[in-house]
Amino acid sequence: MTTADALKREAAAAALEMVANGMRLGLGTGSTASWFVRLLAERVAAGLEVVGVPTSEATAALARELGVPLTTLDDVDGLDLTVDGADEFDGELNLVKGGGGALLREKIVAADSARMVVITDESKRVEWLGAFPLPIEVVTFGTGATLRAIRAAAAGLDLSGSLAFRMDSNGNRRVTDQGNWIVDASFRQISAPKALASALSAIPGVVEHGLFIDLASTVIIAGRTGVERIDR
Ligand code: A5P
Repeated sequence: MTTADALKREAAAAALEMVANGMRLGLGTGSTASWFVRLLAERVAAGLEVVGVPTSEATAALARELGVPLTTLDDVDGLDLTVDGADEFDGELNLVKGGGGALLREKIVAADSARMVVITDESKRVEWLGAFPLPIEVVTFGTGATLRAIRAAAAGLDLSGSLAFRMDSNGNRRVTDQGNWIVDASFRQISAPKALASALSAIPGVVEHGLFIDLASTVIIAGRTGVERIDR
């Protein structure tokens, strides 16, 4: 196991300590969240009774393969806890997510959870969000208009940068689990994340964006000197 994997596993293990019998869990997406699913599966095999709502087809497949019982947000009355990774987090526990392309389901699941715990390593901590290009999920119709509106919204907040469609390994625009496209916006430094989040949400062709504002209740950071936990 690489050092990076060991840290991801450590953060996932710390989050697992917050899981109790009978919980309804949101299961995140990405390499860190997949460690949580693997460790959770070991506890399920040992008798823990939980149900999970996966935030992507990839996570659903992993959970099924490992025997973690799954449900949907239609079949439960909200979730107790969601555990997910992040691409960046700031001092207020605002996040950039969507590097894995699952931001829409991730945000729906996190917003329906009593608590969202982010598991990460030190490299994701930033003073300002935005060095990681901000994923914005857009409908496939009228993208010219949507991109113009994104540029205008950004300019209104003194932000500029390139907007690039996310591509898949075949050179086509990457299609999300919900059948949309993703635009990665290189804003570099987002000094007003709440204002940008509101402005992007107001654009008709934007389905959702990767700014997670006031959603994370806890961030667990695994580093070489130990595990740190920050609560909001
Ligand atoms: C998935 O869409 C993302 O939001 C991931 O949670 C995020 O990209 C973190 O992924 P890693 O744990 O693989 O870094």
